[in-house]
Amino acid sequence: MSVTSREFRLDSPTAEADSEAAAAVLRAALPYLVVTPRALRWQVENAPETQHHRLLLAEADGQLLGCARTGIYYDSSEPGQAYLNIYVHPERRGRGAGRALLAAGEAYVTGLDARANFCWSLDDERSMAFAERNGYRRGRSAHFQRLALGDGTLPPMPPCPPDVEVRTGASFGDDLHGIWVADNEAALDEPDDLDVEPTSYDLWLSQYWMHPEHDRELTSVVTVDGEVAAFSLAITDGGSRYMSGMAGTRRVHRRRGLAKLAKSASLHRARAAGYTEAFTNNDSGNEPMLAINKWFGYQECATEVRWIRDLTG
Ligand SMILES: CC(C)(COP(=O)(O)OP(=O)(O)OC[C@H]1O[C@@H](n2cnc3c(N)ncnc32)[C@H](O)[C@@H]1OP(=O)(O)O)[C@@H](O)C(=O)NCCC(=O)NCCS
Repeated sequence: MSVTSREFRLDSPTAEADSEAAAAVLRAALPYLVVTPRALRWQVENAPETQHHRLLLAEADGQLLGCARTGIYYDSSEPGQAYLNIYVHPERRGRGAGRALLAAGEAYVTGLDARANFCWSLDDERSMAFAERNGYRRGRSAHFQRLALGDGTLPPMPPCPPDVEVRTGASFGDDLHGIWVADNEAALDEPDDLDVEPTSYDLWLSQYWMHPEHDRELTSVVTVDGEVAAFSLAITDGGSRYMSGMAGTRRVHRRRGLAKLAKSASLHRARAAGYTEAFTNNDSGNEPMLAINKWFGYQECATEVRWIRDLTG
C-alpha cells in the first residue's frame, strides 16, 4: 500500500495516539533524544506563530512509518530559514516514508516563502546519499554523547570558589531575567549554520523555561557575587533519561570552570533523582563543551550532519 502523509492535529480524535506513535518513531530513529508525546503536542500547541511549526506523519497500512518536524527558525537573523527534520522508524525504512515527508515538508515551507531549508540527518551512507540526491549541501556536524549515570563513574563535584554559589533553577522562582540574559549571550556564541538573534524574555520563558520536560530542580545555575554567571539546563522524560538542554557561561566568566560546575551539580542531582542515562549533543567544533563532556566521561554515540538547500533558485 502506498505511503500517505498528513499533518498532526491537536483537535483530531487520534491526537493522543498519533503523538505517542510519533514519539516512539523519534525514539527508535534517534535513541539519543529525550522526547515525550506530551512535548510533541506541547510544541504544536505552543510554538510562536512566526515559527509555523508542524508535525507531519507518514503512514501505510494504518502504521506510522515516520514523522517530520518542520517550520521556520523564528530566531534566525535572516528571514525565511526553514527546518525540516525527518525521522523514519529503522524497521520501516525503504518504503517511501522519507521521500513522502521530504516532499510534504518542502511543499509546506515553500508555501511559507522560505528561502533555505535546513535538515539534520545521521552521518550514515544512506541518509547522506538521500540528502545529496535531493539537492542538499553539507553543513556543520554535531555529536550525540551518552553518559551512564547509574554505574558510579560520575566524577565528584569540582570545588566551589568562595565568591560562587550553585543553585537550582527552581530556587529562582519568577526572578529569571539573569538566566535569560546568560542564555541569550551563550546562544549567540554557540557554533551554528544559522546566525541567531536574541530572544525576547517572554518568548524565552514560554519556549524554554516553561517547556514541559524542563526540570527546574535539576537545572543548575552558578552565580558569582549573586549574579548569574553560568547555567546548565536539564530536560528529562520523568523516567530514566536526562538530556542537557543548553549550557552557557557569560563571556566575562568563561574559562573559570563554571560551566563544568553547573553541569556537574545538575548531573549529580539527576543521578540522585534516579536518572540512569544522560545525553548531550554538541557541535563538532565546540571545543570547550566537548572538553567538559569528555571530563564527565560522556562517550560519543552518533554523529549528525546538517543539510541545507537553497529554495530561491
Ligand atoms: C561552552 C561554554 C559553556 C564553556 O564555559 P566555561 O565556563 O568557559 O567552561 P569551563 O571553564 O568550565 O571549561 C571547561 C573545560 O573546557 C576547556 N576549555 C574552555 N575553553 C576552551 C576552548 N576555547 N578550547 C578548548 N578547551 C576549552 C577548559 O580548559 C576546561 O577544561 P579543563 O577543566 O580540563 O581545563 C562557554 O564557552 C559558552 O557559553 N559557549 C557558548 C554556548 C555554548 O556553546 N554552549 C554549549 C552548547 S550546549
